[in-house]
Amino acid sequence: MEKDTPQKRDIIFYIRRFDPEHDEAPWLQQFTVQVERGMTILDGLHQIKETQDSSLAWRFSCRMGVCGSCAMLINGKPALACNTQILEVTNHIITLAPLPNFAIIKDLVPDLRPLFEKHRYIHPYIKREDLEEMTNPTGEYFQSPQELEKYLQFTYCIKCGACIAACPTMATDREYLGPTALAQAYRYNTDSRDGGFKARKDMVEFPHGVFSCHYAGECSRVCPKGVDPARAIQLIKRELVLDYLKLKRHKKPALALNPSEREEQKPRTLAPPFTVES
Ligand code: SF4
Ligand code: FES
Repeated sequence: MEKDTPQKRDIIFYIRRFDPEHDEAPWLQQFTVQVERGMTILDGLHQIKETQDSSLAWRFSCRMGVCGSCAMLINGKPALACNTQILEVTNHIITLAPLPNFAIIKDLVPDLRPLFEKHRYIHPYIKREDLEEMTNPTGEYFQSPQELEKYLQFTYCIKCGACIAACPTMATDREYLGPTALAQAYRYNTDSRDGGFKARKDMVEFPHGVFSCHYAGECSRVCPKGVDPARAIQLIKRELVLDYLKLKRHKKPALALNPSEREEQKPRTLAPPFTVES
């Protein structure tokens, strides 16, 4: 078979620059980058920094779509720079800008503090009344694969902020809790080990909470991890309405298993099979 030869191509990058210490307003800078097959936007940015302008700023860490720090506006759409192949989105021109709906620290670096503050606000952890078992555990809380399945999708969130950047409600109301935090509120409410629904109810119901969502669905369209925050938000609304009508079934959070029960449950709690051959 003929070996693939990498085809190099000049791609023009238009990058929105802004340094709050020197600039009164954002401005566009043009760079030409020689791109070959397999190069990501992140690779292109590194090349620009190394060979053309060392003052360009953006944020990254893992380079593999896991840390969530490299999200930016790529050709007008929020996406991960490390997860986007340049030649898959353009043959000629690419535009890069920081995520909308956040303040800008510098160039392509958004200030993600509101995202993390709102995430912290909804208590993104298992909440229970039996604090003794939480602090001095005697066993594991049992959870069946079916119970895990109910919230698993929402655990894939990497807090990249792409959904917030795409959200039209957030564009008009910066106090809105937003898709990231609300998806995580649903994730914990749905966890069979959690008993925090009542405590989170007031947090998600307030005027800038879940009912501010108009169900545009943009958050789910841009999410790089398939979390589907729009779905989580509609499911929280449903839970709240059922609770208001006193139709919601409040299940007690799962109890800790004693050693003999643990033995019984073993076949149901096996680790999932390896995804790659060793
Ligand atoms: S829900 Fe998706 S888009 Fe939003 S922060 Fe999490 S991973 Fe990013
Ligand atoms: S560098 Fe971690 S997600 Fe892109």
